[in-house]
Amino acid sequence: MTKINTICCIGAGYVGGPTMAVIAQKCPEIKVVVVDINAERIAAWQTDDLPIYEPGLLEVVKEARGRNLFFSTDIDAAIEEAQMIFMSVNTPTKTYGLGKGRAADLKFVELSARRIAEVSKTDKIVVEKSTLPVRTAESIKTILSEYKNGVKFQVLSNPEFLAEGTAVNDLHYPDRVLIGGDQTPGGLEAIEALTDIYAHWVPREKIIQTRLWSSELSKLTANAFLAQRISSINSISALCEVTGADVDEVAYAIGTDSRIGPKFLKASVGFGGSCFQKDILNLVYLSEYFGLPEVAAYWDQVIIMNDYQKKRFARNIIHSLFNTVSGKKIALLGWAFKKDTNDTRESAAIYVADDLLSDLAEVSVYDPQVPASAMYADLNYLQTRPAAENKEMLKVHSDAYEACKDAHAIAIITEWDEFKTLDWQKIFDNMKKPAFLFDGRNILDHKQLKNMGFKIKAIGKGED
Ligand code: NAD
Ligand code: UGA
Repeated sequence: MTKINTICCIGAGYVGGPTMAVIAQKCPEIKVVVVDINAERIAAWQTDDLPIYEPGLLEVVKEARGRNLFFSTDIDAAIEEAQMIFMSVNTPTKTYGLGKGRAADLKFVELSARRIAEVSKTDKIVVEKSTLPVRTAESIKTILSEYKNGVKFQVLSNPEFLAEGTAVNDLHYPDRVLIGGDQTPGGLEAIEALTDIYAHWVPREKIIQTRLWSSELSKLTANAFLAQRISSINSISALCEVTGADVDEVAYAIGTDSRIGPKFLKASVGFGGSCFQKDILNLVYLSEYFGLPEVAAYWDQVIIMNDYQKKRFARNIIHSLFNTVSGKKIALLGWAFKKDTNDTRESAAIYVADDLLSDLAEVSVYDPQVPASAMYADLNYLQTRPAAENKEMLKVHSDAYEACKDAHAIAIITEWDEFKTLDWQKIFDNMKKPAFLFDGRNILDHKQLKNMGFKIKAIGKGED
C-alpha cells in the first residue's frame, strides 16, 4: 500500500493553513509543503504574525514549522516532490457569465489541476479539500488524464468541516472525517492512504469512507442543513418580536428535544462567512441544472430569509431612531462575521453598515481583529457609493469607547466576548440621549442595561 511521506497543499488560506499545520503536527514523519500564488500570505505564514487570526493556531504552526511544515511560493517544486496533493483553493460564487451569482467559480481549481498535470512526473493522489459541486472530480480527472505523460492519478474528495474561530479544536477533535474515492482497487488504495494519515490522531470509526459523489454532495448538504437551522430560528425571531415571545426561550425549549438538539439555534443578525451562502447558492444552481426547480426553490428560501434578517435589523434601527438616521452617529461593535476570527467575508456588518450609510448615518466601527482597510474594501465591493464617500462616512476606531462616544445608537454585530465586559455605564454616560442599543447577538444583560437607561431592541425579544 502507498505510504505517504510527502504532501503538498495548494492554497494557504483559512482551510489550507490550519489543516496542513495540524497534519504536520500530528504526523512528524511526513513533509508538508503549503504553497500559494499569494506571496504576501506565504511570507506571513513564516512569521509569528500569521495571515489569519485563529485561537491556538500559532502554537501548532510553531511546533511543526521548519521541522516538517513549510510554506512556499514554488508551486511546481512542491507538486513534483509530493505523493499526495491537497487542493485547498477558494471556490467563490461566479460573478460573471453562465451561472453568475449562483454556480461555484472553479477557475482556481481548474488552474491547480492543470498545473498538477503539467508538472507531475510520478504517480499522485489528488485530494479535493475545497468545497466543490457534486461531480467535480470527474472534470478534474478529465484534465489530469489529458496530459499523457504516463503518470497515474487518483482523485479523492476529503471536504473540510472546520468552522473559523474554532478551527484548531475542530481539526484536533473532528466529529468525523469524510473520504470519498473511486470504488476501484486503485481508488480504494488511495482512500486507505489518506485514512492512514488521519488515523494518526482521529479514531478510525470516525473516518467515513464513501463514493466520490456522496462525499462531494455531503459537504454542500451539511452546510445547507446548518444554515437552514439559523434561517429557521431567525424567521421565528421576527415572530417573537411582534408577539412578545423571547427567541432564546423558544430555542431552549425546542432544543431540549433530543431529536432537534441545542446547537445552531442562536438567533442573530444573520449568518455570514465565506461558505454558507455560496454553498447553498451552489446547491440551488445544481438543482436547477439537474431539472429540479422545487428543490432549488426550497434551498433558495434559506438565503432569502437570511437577507431579510440583515435588512430587518438595519430597518429596525432606522425606524426606532424616529425614521431617520441622517447625520446621526451609529456605532457598530464588531465587523467580523463571528467572534474569534478576522474574516469578514459576507459578514452581516457590511450590509447593515451599507443600509445605514444609504440613510446618511455617520457610522463608526470597532472590531478587535479587523483592520480598517478590510472594512473599506468590503463596502467598496458593494459599489453602492464612491469609495471616497465610504471613507468619509465610515469611521474606524481602535477603541470601543471612542467608537460609541456621542453616538445616538449602538449595534452589536459580532459576539466578541470583550463586549460583555465593557464599562456600559461609562458608554451610556457619553452617548446622546435617548441612548439606543440594538443587540444583534443577544450577548448582553438587557435587564441591567435597561436599568441604566438604555433603550434596548434585541433580535427576537418582544415587549411584554
Ligand atoms: P481562502 O481564500 O482563504 O484561501 C484560498 C487560497 O488559495 C488563497 O490564499 C489563494 O491565493 C490560493 N490560490 C488560489 N488559486 C491558486 C492557485 N492556482 N495556486 C496556488 N494558490 C492558489 O479560502 P478558504 O477559506 O481557505 O477556502 C478554501 C476552500 O475550502 C473553499 O472551497 C471553501 O469553500 C472551503 N472551506 C472553507 C472553510 C472556511 O471556514 N473558510 C471551511 C470548510 C471548507
Ligand atoms: C461553517 C460550518 O460550521 C463548518 O462546519 C464548515 O466547514 C464551514 O462553514 C465551511 O464550509 O466554510 P463557519 O462559516 O466558519 O463554518 O462558521 P459558523 O460557526 O458555522 O458560523 C457561520 C455564521 O452563522 C456566523 O455568522 C455565525 O455567527 C452564524 N450563526 C451560527 C448564527 O447566527 N447562529 C448560530 O446558532 C450559529
